[in-house]
Amino acid sequence: MNLERRGDAVVLHPPAKLNLFLEVLFRREDGFHELETVFHAIDLCDELRVERVAGVDHRFAARGRPVETGVDNLVVRAAEAFFSARPPRFGLKTDLTKSIPLGAGLGGGSADAAGMLLALNALADDPLPPAKLSAIGATLGSDVPFFFSCGTAVGRGRGEQIEPIEAANAPDLWFVVLYPGVPAPTPVVYRGLTLDLKRPRKDLRRFTQTLGQPWKPDSPPFHNALTEPFRKAFPELAALQDRVSRATGRRFTVSGSGSSLFVAMPSKDEADEVRGTLQAMAAGESFVCRSLVRRPGAAR
Ligand code: C5P
Repeated sequence: MNLERRGDAVVLHPPAKLNLFLEVLFRREDGFHELETVFHAIDLCDELRVERVAGVDHRFAARGRPVETGVDNLVVRAAEAFFSARPPRFGLKTDLTKSIPLGAGLGGGSADAAGMLLALNALADDPLPPAKLSAIGATLGSDVPFFFSCGTAVGRGRGEQIEPIEAANAPDLWFVVLYPGVPAPTPVVYRGLTLDLKRPRKDLRRFTQTLGQPWKPDSPPFHNALTEPFRKAFPELAALQDRVSRATGRRFTVSGSGSSLFVAMPSKDEADEVRGTLQAMAAGESFVCRSLVRRPGAAR
C-alpha cells in the first residue's frame, strides 16, 4: 500500500480485495478454518488520512459509507494494538473516507486496519519491523497481513500467512463487482460449512500456474469453497447470483464469505457492458474495477 507524506500527516488508499481462489482444508482446534486462498487487490479504495497531533487523544472521524467510529472500528483497534506494542502513545487525528462496502467480502475493514498500522509506523519515532507490524495485523483479522503488500498473494493458515505472487505471474484484469446492498457476516457463512473430507479439492498450484497467462472469459475458473454455505445462508443472494449470471452470460463468483459477487473481463468496454446489464436489472450497487498491480519496492 503506497503511503504519501503531507507534513505531519500521511495519506493512504486502502484497497479492496477479491479472493480469486479459496479452498477450505479443515476446521482447526481454535475454531478457525485452514485455508488456501489467492488474494487480489483492486482499485476500489478507501482514503485514510492520519495526522500526528499534540497530546495523546485519538480523534477519529469517518465519512462516506456509515461506519461505527467507536472502539469496534478496526482503525481504532489498530491504533490501540500499535501503541500497546510500541509506546509511547501520541495524539492522532484520523479521517477515514469509506468507499468500500462493508460486510461484503472485500476486506475493506482489514485494509483500513493495515493502512492505520502503516501510517502509525511512518509517524512513530521508533518504527516497528515489518514482520512485527504484520503480526499485530493478524491479531486484528485474518485478512489484514495481505494488505501490507497488496498486489496478488497466496494466503495460507487462516489467511494471514502471505506469499506474494510476482506481478509478471499475476493477472491484470478488469472486474465488475456487485454489492447486493446487504452484508453477509463471515461467521454465519463459516458456520454453515460442511466439510466433506472425501471431496476432491481444487488444486491451488494448478490455479496459480495459469494465473499470469493470457486470460479468456472464465479462464482460469475462479473458485470459492464458501459458495455453498453462502448460498444456503442467504437464499435471496443465491437467487441474485443465478439471475445476474443468466442475464450477463458470465459466471459470478462470491468474494470471500460474500456478499459481493464478481466477474473478470479482459477490457474496460466489456466490463462497462456487463455493468450496464446489472444497472438495467437494478441488481444492486456495481463497480468497474481494475487489478491493482504491485509495484516492486512499494511502501510496506
Ligand atoms: O479473522 P476474522 O476476524 O476475519 O474472522 C472472522 C470470523 O470468520 C472468525 O471468527 C471465524 O468464525 C471465521 N473464520 C474462519 N476461518 C478463517 C477466517 C475466518 O472460520 N480462516
